Amino acid sequence: MPTNGGGAARPLGLGISPPKPAALLFLLLHCSLLAASATTDTILPGKGISGNETLVSKSGGFELGFFPPGPGIHYFLGVRFRNMAGNSPTFWLGDRVVITDLPAASLEIFGDSLYIKENGASLWWSPSPGGNVSSAAMAVLLDNGNLVVRDQGNSSLVLWQSFDYPGDAMLPGARLGLDQDTGKNVSLTFKSFSHNGSLSVDATRRNGFVLTTDGHANGGTFPDWMVSSQDNGSSLLLNHPETANGTEFLQFNLGQISLMRWSEPDPAANGTGGWVARWSFPSDCKSGGFFCGDFGACTGSGKCGCVDGFTPSYPIEWGLGYFVTGCSRSLPLSCESDGQTEHDDSFAPLDKLQGLPYNAQDEVAGTDEDCRAACRSKCYCIAYSYGHGCKLWYHNLYNLSLAARPPYTKIYLRMGSKLRNKKGLQTRGIVLLVTGFIGLASLVLISVLLWRFRRDSFGTGKFEVEGPLAVYSYGQIKKATMNFSDKIGEGGFGSVFRGTIPGSTAIAVKDLKVLGQAEKQFRTEVQTLGMIQHSNLVRLLGFCVKAKRRLLVYEYMPNGSLECHLFAEKSGLLSWNVRYQIALGIAKGLAYLHEECEDCIIHCDIKPENILLDAEFCPKIADFGMAKLLGREFNSALTTIRGTMGYLAPEWISGLPITKKADVYSFGIVLFEIISGRRSTEVVKFGNHRYFPVYAAAQVSEGEVLCLLDARLEGDANVKELDVTCRVACWCIQDEENDRPSMGQVVRMLEGVLDTEMPPIPASFQNLMEGDNSVIYSDF
Ligand SMILES: *[C@@H]1O[C@H](CO)[C@@H](O)[C@H](O)[C@H]1NC(C)=O
Ligand SMILES: *[C@@H]1O[C@H](CO)[C@@H](O)[C@H](O)[C@H]1NC(C)=O
Ligand SMILES: *[C@@H]1O[C@H](CO)[C@@H](O)[C@H](O)[C@H]1NC(C)=O
Ligand SMILES: *[C@@H]1O[C@H](CO)[C@@H](O)[C@H](O)[C@H]1NC(C)=O
Ligand SMILES: *[C@@H]1O[C@H](CO)[C@@H](O)[C@H](O)[C@H]1NC(C)=O
Ligand SMILES: *[C@@H]1O[C@H](CO)[C@@H](O)[C@H](O)[C@H]1NC(C)=O
Ligand SMILES: *[C@@H]1O[C@H](CO)[C@@H](O)[C@H](O)[C@H]1NC(C)=O
Ligand SMILES: *[C@@H]1O[C@H](CO)[C@@H](O)[C@H](O)[C@H]1NC(C)=O
Ligand SMILES: *[C@@H]1O[C@H](CO)[C@@H](O)[C@H](O)[C@H]1NC(C)=O
Repeated sequence: MPTNGGGAARPLGLGISPPKPAALLFLLLHCSLLAASATTDTILPGKGISGNETLVSKSGGFELGFFPPGPGIHYFLGVRFRNMAGNSPTFWLGDRVVITDLPAASLEIFGDSLYIKENGASLWWSPSPGGNVSSAAMAVLLDNGNLVVRDQGNSSLVLWQSFDYPGDAMLPGARLGLDQDTGKNVSLTFKSFSHNGSLSVDATRRNGFVLTTDGHANGGTFPDWMVSSQDNGSSLLLNHPETANGTEFLQFNLGQISLMRWSEPDPAANGTGGWVARWSFPSDCKSGGFFCGDFGACTGSGKCGCVDGFTPSYPIEWGLGYFVTGCSRSLPLSCESDGQTEHDDSFAPLDKLQGLPYNAQDEVAGTDEDCRAACRSKCYCIAYSYGHGCKLWYHNLYNLSLAARPPYTKIYLRMGSKLRNKKGLQTRGIVLLVTGFIGLASLVLISVLLWRFRRDSFGTGKFEVEGPLAVYSYGQIKKATMNFSDKIGEGGFGSVFRGTIPGSTAIAVKDLKVLGQAEKQFRTEVQTLGMIQHSNLVRLLGFCVKAKRRLLVYEYMPNGSLECHLFAEKSGLLSWNVRYQIALGIAKGLAYLHEECEDCIIHCDIKPENILLDAEFCPKIADFGMAKLLGREFNSALTTIRGTMGYLAPEWISGLPITKKADVYSFGIVLFEIISGRRSTEVVKFGNHRYFPVYAAAQVSEGEVLCLLDARLEGDANVKELDVTCRVACWCIQDEENDRPSMGQVVRMLEGVLDTEMPPIPASFQNLMEGDNSVIYSDF
């Protein structure tokens, strides 16, 4: 870890990455880049840092910039020790929004907020403190590594500081707990695909803290030399190291906190320096479940060791007694690298354990064989045990400990591909005995197998898939889709094929047209997307990566897209009731993406083609998160899609930063289409207007909504619902983002929980109504 640890090497920060290629802004951006000076510790309005430029604290101890979390193509904003070469941990800031286009990224200040911009789109803003604050702010990287946004005239007026948002690591001088002056309550957090944790102050005890792992709390106390109590014990300040040149930070990992100290390379001890844990809680492997990390086991002597088939993930730190980063598989799992031989994954017994590892999942299985099969069927199931019922372990294996004496327990561990070769060689032996000819044939077969194995291990490296998604081989996908024979759609991002996977689940496979992220980044992003699950979002089941191809496997939606049902003549007519439920469902799905899931997502491409209907006509939003998967190529893919432009909010067209409210606008347009059963962008005459939303907005303001209803329904609708839906639609398409409701408010308005006032006609529409041949959006 500490090679890039600190704020951690876990690029989970999804944040918001809306695209916006505005040539003009881009140019302006470049001008401001050139204006930025060489080394400074300050950002002033109009003078930010961009690309690989950094901010350097006055004493030269810290630098701030966009840094890569590892070898890779993406960057996060972070602070690190400046003179440590590659050994500094990075303390990530800015919710770890992903930067893919480094030269086009910048950090700037505007008003009282700091913001990250990439290609003209603002990806992140530091939260503004609210109230009456100065609008002339500056940002300074202090000598303790704290990035502070403060008033230009009054340096004690702090508007935001990075020490209040520490992620999973903190520096000396930073505070944990409640600051009674500012009301900020700071805690450290840890997040991985399958586990989470937090560290906060327990003010009821002297120097007390509570360490929470997946909801289970564990209390402890810091030693006196390490922290200073503030505000009557409601917060604790991490002390600076006693020696002037000591370098320390507090690292929070799953189930463990450690004060890490840099030890210089010592020629007498093989010249390797490293981060040494000066203090840890828990203090040894016998007292704590996570001390030895993933796939590490606590041995009888109180040391950690990796289980067979695994090696330490960070050997240097492991050697220095920091074990919590755990062990990695020496050989990849065959189910990850080649689904065709999925059933070759073998299980090796791990015996003489004390108790069972952390977080067992109960599975109903009649026999040992059923239990093994249940585990084998999921690539992320990495171990099982059968004795006291069937238990499975997913993704990680923590809290393994060898027992000194009975009772012993035993589990079976999924093993990498090596054993597959052994089996092949045995086969060869037998076959050779039978006939030379068949023996020769099997030799050929084995060479092919070996070649494939080599190729696979080369191709996939040691990458370990974590997460909720299945990883399919290309062969499996080809088979499932009968060699891509049943094409059911073609979108801007690629073609969609129908298929069936064993167990006869119908799937839709999207073959991404645009390449986007590098493989590892893609896998990370796709796994994060896989965690986003909601009844109004199309469920991602798995994916496949083969060389340059990227395939996504979704649940199949038997009723196709909303577009076919709304606009196609031959399809059956959707009743008002169904339309209303569809509108509500889309709103709920979007509200979830915007407000409820861990990292907020702007869809950017809401339109009827992207709303799919399941067997019960429950709507499900498709294609969310594409901006993350495709990175910078998302823009070009999006803007080449015909028909999309009519759904774009005015701020897209004028090149302003894109926020969630852009989706609200598109949703408003879709609502009008659901109501009227016709394309908003159609060039047809409505009253005096050619553009339907203009006509609709005017009708809503006059309270004449029934004429907006799809004529084919012949007035058969709940007028109250229709009225609310029309008003909501009109609110959603307001010119000013601030005038549009949030998706959460939309849901409550549609449900009738929140009153829906009469909306004004958007000003740009008023212009359209007055002038006869003004520009209309459908002309784009
Ligand atoms: C920073 O980027 C510029 C061009 O964008 C490049 O010339 C320069 O070498 C880079 N500096 C470092 C330290 O990478
Ligand atoms: C904020 O500023 C406005 C205008 O300057 C003033 O009217 C208002 O009273 C101020 N509010 C507070 C809480 O100071
Ligand atoms: C500077 O800001 C601090 C904190 O808000 C405030 O207490 C102090 O009065 C301000 N000083 C001046 C000169 O405005
Ligand atoms: C601070 O936050 C932690 C965890 O979120 C919570 O347990 C604690 O009660 C909070 N303290 C105060 C004073 O609000
Ligand atoms: C952390 O994990 C626990 C237990 O798995 C879960 O209940 C909780 O919602 C999770 N918290 C976060 C912030 O993900
Ligand atoms: C500190 O705690 C004591 C006793 O609990 C209390 O009397 C005192 O008011 C507190 N001081 C502050 C600044 O909160
Ligand atoms: C830095 O610390 C090391 C030991 O921790 C000590 O040997 C060395 O003299 C110190 N250097 C300075 C400049 O203080
Ligand atoms: C130094 O450490 C490396 C890696 O830990 C090891 O391979 C090497 O044998 C060591 N050399 C000596 C002289 O101990
Ligand atoms: C770890 O295992 C030991 C022994 O089985 C058990 O007592 C302890 O509760 C476990 N800890 C966790 C965090 O699961």
